[in-house]
Amino acid sequence: MSLSIVIMAAGKGTRMKSSLPKVLHKLAGRPMLAHVIGTTATLQAQQQVVITGHGAEHVETSMQAAFAGAPMQFVRQEPQLGTGHAVQQAVPVLPNDGVTLILNGDTPLIEASTAQALINACAGQHLALLTIDLPDPTGYGRIVRDASGQNVLAIVEHKDATEAQRAIREVYTGVMAAPTAKLKQWLARLDNKNAQGEYYLTDVVAFAQQDGVSVVAAQPRDEVEVLGVNSPLQLADLERRFQRAQANRLMEQGVRLADPARFDLRGSLQCGADVDIDVNCVFEGSVTLGDGVQIGANCVIRNARIGKGTVIHPFTHIDGDTQGVTVGEGALIGPFARLRPGAQLGDEVHIGNFVEVKNSTMAKGAKANHLAYLGDATVGERVNYGAGAITANYDGANKHRTVIGADVHVGSNCVLVAPVTLGEGATIGGGSTITKDVPAGDLAVARGKQVALSGWKRPQKIKR
Ligand code: UD1
Ligand code: CA
Repeated sequence: MSLSIVIMAAGKGTRMKSSLPKVLHKLAGRPMLAHVIGTTATLQAQQQVVITGHGAEHVETSMQAAFAGAPMQFVRQEPQLGTGHAVQQAVPVLPNDGVTLILNGDTPLIEASTAQALINACAGQHLALLTIDLPDPTGYGRIVRDASGQNVLAIVEHKDATEAQRAIREVYTGVMAAPTAKLKQWLARLDNKNAQGEYYLTDVVAFAQQDGVSVVAAQPRDEVEVLGVNSPLQLADLERRFQRAQANRLMEQGVRLADPARFDLRGSLQCGADVDIDVNCVFEGSVTLGDGVQIGANCVIRNARIGKGTVIHPFTHIDGDTQGVTVGEGALIGPFARLRPGAQLGDEVHIGNFVEVKNSTMAKGAKANHLAYLGDATVGERVNYGAGAITANYDGANKHRTVIGADVHVGSNCVLVAPVTLGEGATIGGGSTITKDVPAGDLAVARGKQVALSGWKRPQKIKR
């Protein structure tokens, strides 16, 4: 049986009061619509249709970028005359058989298992609605059942509901599965005679009743799956709930979070045993922490792998971007360190405060403890890179490499003008500007010679 998926994402989202289309607002660092597309992509549908309208071009290009190569079709809805009108636009691209699953792009946390259960409940012949009982159902479409409570008669939108109907706590979540052929017939019968003057998708329920098609309801595992976002307040609330659920999952795996309310994961985090994470840390993209890793307070870590036993001190910023950052085992990083894309640090490396490392490898035991810059460098084992030393890797047009052999000692406040190679065991005198290669084992000093003028008199203030 063929499965089609229709995701509605054309609405303006007036209550967001934003120039960004609502479905592109981010939850856990990812547009809400991308959450829905990512989840439904696992259902192996023959067809995935996204209805765009408000900010269509922006929505389409960002989803194409997020899901490069994935089979996805966009259908435009101009103007936006309601959810029923939105699905009507998809009719020409839908087959005449199978099942269609319809979802809202502003309800990001729906789970694949819940959607699959709804498809199963539809079984190619029923109209299946995902519903939930909410303590505060304000704004949602109410599920109106017959006296027995067994059969769903209609969905009545909040604005069209009577006082008695508004007391109903069971609401429509915005997710349904229907036999595609029937759905097409029902969509053709919609009108806009209601409080909002819109074509309501939810009116198909009454048509199903009239046609003798049974209407069945299924519930999600958790309320969080069906909470829609209409305002910044709801977005922030849902973000916290989502973060709390992720924090709980990690803690169940044994990760120790100092405060799950002050933890943010915008991507995936793999942790070994005995990992400690202090407050206010943000993890983005794909991050892996080995056994016994400790992360200090206020660290931001994106696309990085941190080895066993390494300690990341507070206020460290690690951003691997597309190249990634790797840190070996037993390393000490920070406080206030900055590791940029392509930083590859070996075991027991020490990076201290206000040290920036970009596109550089540092072998086992190398140290840069204070106020330094390493860019496009290859650093050997046990190198000591002094306070204030920098690689001048950029000549204004091109980047060049600096190679520092094992056991080199670079004194404080040195400038290494790349391309340059410091041979194994070389020593660079403090304050040197090194423009030529230094042979292994040599001492290189490149600065003005110190002179002492004895009997020197300081200038005197002129008296007038
Ligand atoms: C809709 C349901 C309501 C349900 C609620 C769940 C209808 C008539 N009502 O109401 O029963 O309780 O969802 O969250 O369906 N959209 C379009 N084109 C349009 C209008 C909307 O694509 O012309 C899209 C929006 O981008 C959004 C989704 O449809 O992703 C829902 O639209 P919204 O206006 O938020 O519907 P609700 O009033 O929340
Ligand atoms: Ca909504």
